[in-house]
Amino acid sequence: MRILSGMQPTGYLHLGNYIGALQNMVKLQNDRSKNPETFYFVADLHSLTSNQGNYKKETTDYIFNMVVDWIASGIDPEKSVIFLQSDIPEHTELYTLLSMVTPISWLERNPTYKEKMDEIKGRDLDNLGFLGYPVLQTADIALYMADAVPVGKDQVPHLEIAREIIRRFNFIYGEGTLIEPQPILSAVPKLNGLDGRKMSKSYDNAIFLRDDEAAVKTRIMSMVTDVKRAFRKDPGHPDECNLFPYYLAFNCPEDFVSNIRKTCQSSELGCVDDKKNLIAVLNDYFADYRIKRAKIAGDKDSVMDILKSGASRARIVAGKTMEKVREAVGLSSAIRYGR
Ligand code: TRP
Repeated sequence: MRILSGMQPTGYLHLGNYIGALQNMVKLQNDRSKNPETFYFVADLHSLTSNQGNYKKETTDYIFNMVVDWIASGIDPEKSVIFLQSDIPEHTELYTLLSMVTPISWLERNPTYKEKMDEIKGRDLDNLGFLGYPVLQTADIALYMADAVPVGKDQVPHLEIAREIIRRFNFIYGEGTLIEPQPILSAVPKLNGLDGRKMSKSYDNAIFLRDDEAAVKTRIMSMVTDVKRAFRKDPGHPDECNLFPYYLAFNCPEDFVSNIRKTCQSSELGCVDDKKNLIAVLNDYFADYRIKRAKIAGDKDSVMDILKSGASRARIVAGKTMEKVREAVGLSSAIRYGR
């Protein structure tokens, strides 16, 4: 069994990334029963679809911090292949071949494409690369013959397009050439951002994994809670509150959570005190993480070595797939020169 996942280095990783995908990536890596091979990569080419001019200035910093967050979370370079997408030119080669079998209508009706076009202003999204984003993502997955892809819910439409493209490719060039992947979703309820919308680096509403205690405090204190609760004396609605799901996501004990639920509903607990509870929960949860993170972040050379050795391991697998793909399409030199 082979597992693959990637993330775009368009910002620092936040709690939504952690709960939605990263935790699962770690869990799968350590799953002794399935004992899968795990490939985790930084999707820097994808970041160029929406952040073209800033690679040297911003993206390199995001790449470094992403790998640091991964390792601090428990991604282990001994167990997983950790690499940078642009180190493996086969991604772009397979992308070209897949683009030949991808109808433009599939890409134009992609909900993520439409949503981002509407919601993200001030970035240049009017380019072929952005429309073709899911095709590059399909190449990423197919290149490693991944069976399963741990991702956040927002990536489900991309996985569906990937399956369709791979099915079409196989239909044209031979069943079994590439493997159709399944998404693996987190069982934990989704976390909203500080403003109640989906937590996203593009919305400026995130709590970041690299935030220190003070930053977590400032951010949580500014968080929207229960919009139905206008006054302190009003009863709260934990199931409609922006903050309450955090207790579930960060494995608070049941009696602690049910006590918060009860005292919120009875209006004994106010939102400000509830925020203070959550600040304590998060700072406790990430205490060891921060120590580990600081240590890794201080050793840049090791992080670069991890990417370097990951790239040489990834390249072997990618090269094998491309041999098979070239053969299936008819591009292999053996066919061209009649050997
Ligand atoms: N689209 C993903 C995201 O925004 C990143 C990504 C690129 C990816 N290629 C992938 C995820 C392949 C899983 C598999 O987070």
